[in-house]
Parts: sequence; C-alpha cells; structure tokens
Amino acid sequence: TPTPAFDMVLFGGTGDLVMRKLLPSLYQAHAASLLNQQGRLLALGRKAMNRDDYLALVEKSARQHIKEHFDAAAWESFCRRIDYLQVDAGESAHYPALAEAVGQHPERVVVCYLATAPNLFAGICENLAAVGLNRPNVRVVLEKPLGIDLDSSNEINDAVAHFFKEEQLYRIDHYLGKESVQNLMAIRFANALFEPLWRREWIHDVQITISEDLGVGTRGDFYDGTGALRDMVQNHLLQLLCIVAMEPPANMEADAVRDEKLKVLKALRPFSEQDVANKTVRGQYKAGAVAGQPVVGYLQEQGIPADSQTETFVALKAEIDNWRWAGVPFFLRTGKRMQERLAEIVINFRDVPHQLFSGPLSGSHTANRLVIQLQPEESIRLYFLAKEPGDTMRLQPAYLDLDFYKAFKVRRADAYERLLLDVIRGKLALFMRRDELVEAWRWVMPIMECWQNSSNTPPKQYTAGTWGPAASSALLSRDGISWHEES
Ligand code: BG6
Repeated sequence: TPTPAFDMVLFGGTGDLVMRKLLPSLYQAHAASLLNQQGRLLALGRKAMNRDDYLALVEKSARQHIKEHFDAAAWESFCRRIDYLQVDAGESAHYPALAEAVGQHPERVVVCYLATAPNLFAGICENLAAVGLNRPNVRVVLEKPLGIDLDSSNEINDAVAHFFKEEQLYRIDHYLGKESVQNLMAIRFANALFEPLWRREWIHDVQITISEDLGVGTRGDFYDGTGALRDMVQNHLLQLLCIVAMEPPANMEADAVRDEKLKVLKALRPFSEQDVANKTVRGQYKAGAVAGQPVVGYLQEQGIPADSQTETFVALKAEIDNWRWAGVPFFLRTGKRMQERLAEIVINFRDVPHQLFSGPLSGSHTANRLVIQLQPEESIRLYFLAKEPGDTMRLQPAYLDLDFYKAFKVRRADAYERLLLDVIRGKLALFMRRDELVEAWRWVMPIMECWQNSSNTPPKQYTAGTWGPAASSALLSRDGISWHEES
C-alpha cells in the first residue's frame, strides 16, 4: 500500500548520500507504486541552481546507482516530484522560504532528512522550529555519525531535543533496513525451532563480520578523523549484535523492540584497559591487491597524513553478562580493503555431547552453524553433518539454503528504501532511540580512549586484500575456534 501524502526535505541535497542512496531508493519506491501521488521531494543545497540543472545532476548519478533497469518513463514521472531550493542550512534567514515551499498542509507528513555533517544538526533543528517546522507531523531523520564520542553525541541529542520530541526523531542505521536483519527476527520469533536453542546451553560462539573490499576512496578526510570503531562498530555491528542477542519483545511496537535492544547494550561487559589489550585488534591496511589489482596502503590514500594511526580494521571479543549469554563470546569484525565484501552473522552451535562416528569431521564444533548473510547475497544457511551416500558411514557437511530472492521471487529493496518508507509511515522500530545510542557510545569509549593513549602501539598492519592482521585469527584461536571462512 502507498504511503500517506508527504513532503520530504533533503538537507545536503547535492551530497553523496542523497545522490548515491536516497534518491535512487525513493525512485525504486516510486517505480513500485509505493509512494503516495501527493509525495514531494524538496532538495536543499547551497549552490545556486535551477530545477533543471539539479535534475540533470540527479539523473547522471541515478543512472550509475540504480542497479535495476533504469526505466525512462518511471524516471520522468519520479522527477515531477522533485524540486530544488537554494538554502544554506546554517542561515536562519533562508528558512521562511523553505517553510513556504513546504506549504501549509498541517495534516501532511513532513520529513526533514539531515544528510549533512552532524555539527549542523542543532542549528538546522533550531531554524526549522523558528518557522514552525517542528509541528507534531514533522519528522527529522538524523544520519550517522551522531557525534564523535559520548559527550559530543549527548550535546547533539540535547540540542535536537530542545526542538523536537523523541518520537519525531529517526536516528538511522541503514543496517537495520537490510532484509536479512529483519528476517533474522522472523526466524527467531516466528518459529518454534530456533528459540529454544538460542542460548548459552546450545550456542558456542557468535561471529559478526562486515568486511569491505573498497578502501577509503575519496572520503579520506572524513575517515581519518573517524576510524572503523566509530564508523562501523559503534553503530552497525552493535545493532546487529542486539538483534541476535535480544530477548523476544512482547510485541513488535517500536518501544518494545527498542527496550529489548537497550537491555543487551546495557549488559555488554565493559572493557578494562587489560581487556582492550587482550580482546581487541586494531589494524590498518598496507599496500596489496584486491581482486588481482594492486592497491595502495591507507597511508598513501588521498588526504591521509603519513603518520596516521587511524584504524581501518577492528576485531574484538564482546561478552554479554546476562542469563542467556553468559560465557558465549560474540566476535565482531570489520575492515576496509579486505578480501571480499561480505556481511554475515554466524551462529556456531555446540558439539554433540558424545561422539558416535569416527573420521575427521565428527565432533567438529562447526557441525551446526547458522549463517545469515546480508551481503553480497541475502540468504540463510543452516549447516549440519550428514552421511555421505554409500556403504561406509562417512560424514559430510551439508546445508539447507534459503535464498530469499530465489525463494520469494520478489524485487530487492535497498535498506534505505525500506527505512525511508518507514519514516513516512511513522514506524520507529528500526530506528535508534536516544538511550540506545548513549549505551553504544558508553561501551566503545574505553576502547577508543585506550587506543588514543597508546600512540606507541600503532595499529597492526595487514596487507590489502586479506582478512586482516594475523592477530585477528589469534583472537579466536585462543578460544579454540576460527573465523567462519577460515574453518
Ligand atoms: C557506512 C560507513 O555507514 O556504511 C561506510 O560510513 C561503509 O564507511 C558503509 O562503507 C557500508 O555500508 P554497506 O551497506 O555498503 O555495507
């Protein structure tokens, strides 16, 4: 069913996110008839440009980023929704024109998507409120990074809260919009099969990986002040961990789900200095090759200081101190310039209590694993050992495979498409509440601080195109296990 009528204001309208993700996703929703006829998009930017110039810019980038067939007729009708307005987000004098352009439909949903640097968020919210654009049907989407540490994140949240109620705020983490993440919830909570096993008695360890084969590209300036811990662990990896580890919520209402995720974040064991030394690995890529092509090291990338100690790789062992998960390690790993682009959650189940079969595979603790892949394909595989056909009792690994798109034969929706539709429909469940964000920052802070204070122990180098520093494998081998693709 189509969304309600809406006006969507895109701050940062000429920026990378709007061009690469938001407009292509909105186009897909439009082409699938999911957007209300009365849905308008108003892109804002500092540059003086008329609507046609802007549309030419958008079309150029859309043709590159819309993977599915670019349909010229659908594109043309989509463009009728778009307008461009020259607004300097930090300039209060520009907002009356914005208020006028948005129009005076008090009943209509207004979405303000803040795809700008976070230091502008507070000012934008103040300026919106000054022209009445904080009425109850106005929703504000806040992109990450929401601050660079706990204090700065609190400052932004305080400032924004001054003008908008919590239920008007949509803090986006696009990983929560990925199909398999929601399917993980369906698998856990709509089936009787897994939930009884989803606990320390049956699960040996959990591994969550988001690896990228790309380097920092042209984002060097931003990335060097950020690093993988802030860019990926504090948000995406911790959100995935929450979905794996949370208790079943009483219902699927936003706050019921978010309450359960918050409890997981609160139960994460804090890292001492010793833990940071023993249970984390930070790495930085050096020159190597990705898919057979030579690539430069991080320190040679554009905009990176030659002595930078920013991490491009993190692996760590997290533990959750609660009844369900006591003693079960959660290994998290992310990096740039790794061997493959891959995002997956691996649940390794425990060994059988008594070995009946001989041979190398029997009793291997990898006999039963559930692999939820988010990227490059979205699938769920359940591995088990089965008998090889023939007259000897030889075991072979086998798996049950659910490839969503083959199984359901439906169009793939980008994570941003789903999340944008949720904002227009007023569904908050897949957005982070303020207290979640605070807890996530609180947990990463000691790691960040220890790394900042250890300038004499620089990040461990790894060759571009590999799975990261050797210390990452060693982190798991201390528990007698290995990363999924190494076992
Ligand atoms: C973003 C990070 O949040 O996620 C990027 O800032 C990263 O550095 C991106 O490349 C990965 O998202 P995806 O959906 O392409 O895996």
